Amino acid sequence: MNEGGPPLAESEINRSSRRTEWQAGHLDEPTRHLLAEDARYFLHQSVSTPCLSAIRRAEGVWIEDFTGRRYLDFHGNNAHHLGYGHPRLIAALQQQLHDLSFAPRRFTCEPAIDLARKLVDISPPGLDKVLFATGGSDAVEIALKIARAATGRFKTVSFWDAFHGAGFGAASVGGEAQFRSGPIGPLLPGTEHVPPFACYRCPYGYPCDADGQPRLDLCRLTCAKLVRYVLEREGDVAAVIAEPARATPYIPPPGFWAMVQQACHDHGTLLIFDEIPTGLGKTGRRFACEHDGVTPDLLVLGKALGGGVLPIAAVLARADLDVGGHWAFGHYTHEKNPVTCRAALTTLEIIEDERLVENAHRQGERALQRLREMQARHSLIGDVRGRGLLLGVELVSDREDKTPANDAAEAVLYHALSRGLSFKISLGNVLTLTPPLIITAAQMDAALAILEESIAAVAGTVSQPTPGRNTNSG
Ligand SMILES: Cc1ncc(COP(=O)(O)O)c(C=O)c1O
Repeated sequence: MNEGGPPLAESEINRSSRRTEWQAGHLDEPTRHLLAEDARYFLHQSVSTPCLSAIRRAEGVWIEDFTGRRYLDFHGNNAHHLGYGHPRLIAALQQQLHDLSFAPRRFTCEPAIDLARKLVDISPPGLDKVLFATGGSDAVEIALKIARAATGRFKTVSFWDAFHGAGFGAASVGGEAQFRSGPIGPLLPGTEHVPPFACYRCPYGYPCDADGQPRLDLCRLTCAKLVRYVLEREGDVAAVIAEPARATPYIPPPGFWAMVQQACHDHGTLLIFDEIPTGLGKTGRRFACEHDGVTPDLLVLGKALGGGVLPIAAVLARADLDVGGHWAFGHYTHEKNPVTCRAALTTLEIIEDERLVENAHRQGERALQRLREMQARHSLIGDVRGRGLLLGVELVSDREDKTPANDAAEAVLYHALSRGLSFKISLGNVLTLTPPLIITAAQMDAALAILEESIAAVAGTVSQPTPGRNTNSG
């Protein structure tokens, strides 16, 4: 039980009594054996262990466990834009394995060059150079090194609660204790943090309106002004690094990024956008930053870039930031692996040919509308927010004081899992729904029906529709 307390760390969620109860009713003997073997051999770490269950198949929007139970996967680590096992992707990889399966580093290869060209073509104008890495965290490190080299500075400004990866650089600019505190430090010096935009729970105490939208007339983007304040006071910050839309999720207030970008320009600071979860269409535009009309100096991609099959990430940079010719910022063994590059190239082609960004926009708008209707029926829902297929439902036990309903969120999760819907809980009480871009209207409807049924079951009652939405008192 953690009702109203600080967010349960995911490590605690992974060991909660609700989880144990769910496992008692849902795991068969082969799964229990696999979980025991997993716990025996893998080094234990927060979030990853112990596992909930095991899966034996993944196809399209579905994952399937050893008992044959299927789950609509509204989590997928934001890597499954294409769904699982897309036949065109699998065929392209089989062919690539046959043609050329590796390129030692002193040689280039066609898939790597084709991918570089394609990324430059589709990315916001001005981002004309790339480097590849095998994971998002490594790509973030590369971006930080480029910013240091290009500015001759080493300091950064980033946001509390952000996640940018597990490496020392990424953990230093990240803002979650479990990745940066305890035995992990010391971290990189000069990594300043500021509170993030979070309009429903504005860290500066400003209220939002009945639809959860910021009251810009009152707050005047204090959250963005604070970034300028720090850049000005420090005077020598190399880069601001952030997710343009937070995966928790939180959408930036209008004008936030334009104001931060202006502050960066004024103080000789580069702007790095980490689009590892949001890039390639998740938010209903190809890049989340397009919603804000702001092109960063460096943009980082990962996760879905490998089609949910192979690990590959990329840094895109302005051509004039190509200043590391005498150094090695990302000299990774699999930097130009033809198979991972083929995975990325084919993924981009599929996203384009199947018009998946448009689908994400369409399904996302529809889902957001339905979630808002759900909010009117259930007082447990304090806020609904999102963009495209990055959707969040924040549960509260009291809409006025916004008491986080952490225990209810966990209960809703296990109820939904039992009915075939998987998603993630963020910040303790936010049901985070991130389906793949291939989702159909029927699949979305099925998932939302499970979600509503689970919320109603946990709330115990279905409240009467309320006029308007919640009144947020900040
Ligand atoms: C915003 C963000 N940045 C970076 C990363 C790190 O990516 P990877 O796990 O591929 O190292 C993640 C992964 O979840 C992420 O969500």
